[in-house]
Amino acid sequence: MKGKEQQMAINIAILGFGTVGSGVAETLDINKELITKRVGEEINVKYILDIRDFPESKFANLVTHNADEVFDSDILIAVETIGGARIAYEYTKRALSLGISVVTSNKELVSTHGPELIKIAQENNCCYLFEAAVGGGIPIIRPLYKCLAANKITKIAGIVNGTTNYILSQMKDEGIDFDTALKQAQANGFAEANPSADIDGIDAQRKISILSTIANDGAYIAPDQISAEGISAITNDDFEFASSIGCDIKLIALYEAGEDKPVVYVAPTLVAKSNLLFNVSGVFNAIMVEGNSLGQAMFYGQGAGTLPTASAVCGDILEAAMSNPTENRTWTEESVAITPYDEIAADIVVRADVPAKVITAAEGYECEVLSDEAILVKGIRHKDIASLVSETGAKSWMHYLK
Ligand code: HSE
Repeated sequence: MKGKEQQMAINIAILGFGTVGSGVAETLDINKELITKRVGEEINVKYILDIRDFPESKFANLVTHNADEVFDSDILIAVETIGGARIAYEYTKRALSLGISVVTSNKELVSTHGPELIKIAQENNCCYLFEAAVGGGIPIIRPLYKCLAANKITKIAGIVNGTTNYILSQMKDEGIDFDTALKQAQANGFAEANPSADIDGIDAQRKISILSTIANDGAYIAPDQISAEGISAITNDDFEFASSIGCDIKLIALYEAGEDKPVVYVAPTLVAKSNLLFNVSGVFNAIMVEGNSLGQAMFYGQGAGTLPTASAVCGDILEAAMSNPTENRTWTEESVAITPYDEIAADIVVRADVPAKVITAAEGYECEVLSDEAILVKGIRHKDIASLVSETGAKSWMHYLK
């Protein structure tokens, strides 16, 4: 990290003054006194870099459009809250190469360029920290790296996208349709600029890529290796069916260490009442982590939004300010193999008029009748599901989490 001996305060810059960036400035401002006390020095926002002006903001005087002015200054930490993987990528590389630590909420950039960016940070003895990239305000990255460091992480099952969880909750609780619920999520400001990233499971795919790589000891699992199915095909009728068998429908991002290779995917899933994730509603996120010593723990809280996400970003700013670049655990440059989606054995619920047909066709797999139209089939390989459904004339099937 660049030397800070001669500075009276730790100067930082916020790159991108949108939903999260503005929350970071606000949090540092409202908690200035206690942060100064905890760090031992003031954290001073010296610049806000954005192409826009913010004349109404109390931070308007800090805004610059000149990136050179920012990078040629004495800042020690850059907060990258631009989003996306283009300009954010350039600025992050530029900062890290100069020994300026970068903290970010940018799950797209971390999941696609994490190996390279972490390496640059290590080479320049500074930090690349991304607590806010998964689960918004929920502490999950540092707990995985630190508190759970003595465990083999055997499983992660998460509701990691607030928009889809909100849409699904509204469909279930208010009986409204998918499009109306999506419009509400957009009006509330937690959907991505292009909501396809949320509803098609891409945002969750990026987040589980990050969590899986950490759980897999830095052996990189890239987003494009991970099968992701979104929620746009879910109907109100699906919720009635789910409720008839004591389940709710959630978009689950799953990682399992696996016996041979890791199993990772994102899919709408019937979650049984007995599961910790059943009661997670609205924009909230929750991540269930299973470790071989820990057992299960659930991390729950606000997965999106200005101040909750800023809370996690600011936690990283304090970490970087206290000059501890040790969290730059290496990620392998090349992605490692995961179990092909077709080969993954999953528990599924098949919805069919004639359960007996499904039980016969699913010969060799353990089955359990949940209702007169729902059959739980355990451990069936994905590649065998299509034929099971077509042979039996089943209406639909969905992953199942008990
Ligand atoms: N669009 C994301 C979500 C924002 O709804 O969870 C937080 O990453």
